[in-house]
Amino acid sequence: MTEEASPPRTDPRQPGEASSIGARFVAGPIDAREIPDAVAIFLEAFHDSAAYVYGEPPRPEAMIDVWSFARSVEPDAFLAARDDDGAVVGYEFLTTSVSALRSAAIRRLAPLRWAWRAVTGRYGIIWPHALRLFANKLSFVRSSGEFRTHGDAQLLNIATAARVRGRGVAGILVRAGLAYLRSRSISELRLEVRPDNVPARAVYERTGFAEVGRTKDAGGEWIVMTVRP
Ligand SMILES: CC(C)(COP(=O)(O)OP(=O)(O)OC[C@H]1O[C@@H](n2cnc3c(N)ncnc32)[C@H](O)[C@@H]1OP(=O)(O)O)[C@@H](O)C(=O)NCCC(=O)NCCS
Repeated sequence: MTEEASPPRTDPRQPGEASSIGARFVAGPIDAREIPDAVAIFLEAFHDSAAYVYGEPPRPEAMIDVWSFARSVEPDAFLAARDDDGAVVGYEFLTTSVSALRSAAIRRLAPLRWAWRAVTGRYGIIWPHALRLFANKLSFVRSSGEFRTHGDAQLLNIATAARVRGRGVAGILVRAGLAYLRSRSISELRLEVRPDNVPARAVYERTGFAEVGRTKDAGGEWIVMTVRP
C-alpha cells in the first residue's frame, strides 16, 4: 500500500505528489534493508533520549534488532517515506495489536536474544539509565491503561529527517498507515504525544486524531489521541 501527499488545490502538479517545491515523497511498506535508515532518523529525532540509553553517539544495534523484528511480524505496518531518489526520509511504526506484537516476541523468544546481546555489550547500553527508563515506562503503561479503545492498534513511533520537515512527509505517512489499518478493518488507532510537540500535534489533528484524555510519566504529561481509520 502506498500513499502520497496531496498538493494544494491550486498546485499544477498531479494529485498524489507532495506539496513541497522540487521534491516528491511517497510512503509505502519499509524494506528490511531500510530499517537502519529509519533507525538513523530516529536517533537524529530523539537524540537526547537515545544517547541517554545507548551512549554518545547513540549505538543503533538494539533499535535495529527490535524494529527488524517488529517489521517481520507485520511488514505492512512499518512504513517508509522516500524521496525522488528512493532515499528514506521518514518512517512510521504502527501495530494493529500491541498485545499480538508482544505475544509474537515472546513466542519467538526475541526478548531472550535481545537480553543476551544487551548483557554481552553488543548494544552499548548504559544500564542505570536503561533501568530508570524501563521503570518509567512501566508506570506509564499502568497510568495509560485507563483509556480503553476498540482493540489495541497503536501508532508507536513516527519521525521525519530534519532536512524534510514541514513539507508534508509525516502527513503522507500517517495517511498511508490509516489506509493500511482500514484494509485490516481496524476500528480505532491510538497514540500518545507530548503537549509541547506542536508539529506532531498539527499532523495528528490534520489527519483526524482527537484528544481523548491525558496521562503522565516521570517526563511529564502525554496527550492520548485516537482516530477511526
Ligand atoms: C513530528 C514530525 C514527525 C512532523 O513531521 P513533518 O514531516 O515535519 O510533518 P508535516 O510536514 O507533515 O507537518 C508538520 C506540521 O507541523 C507544523 N509545524 C512544523 N513546525 C512547527 C512549529 N515549530 N510550530 C508550529 N507548527 C509547526 C507544520 O506547519 C505542519 O502543519 P500544517 O500541515 O498544519 O501546516 C517531525 O517534526 C519529527 O520527526 N519530529 C521529531 C520526532 C517526533 O516528535 N515524533 C512524534 C512523536 S509523538
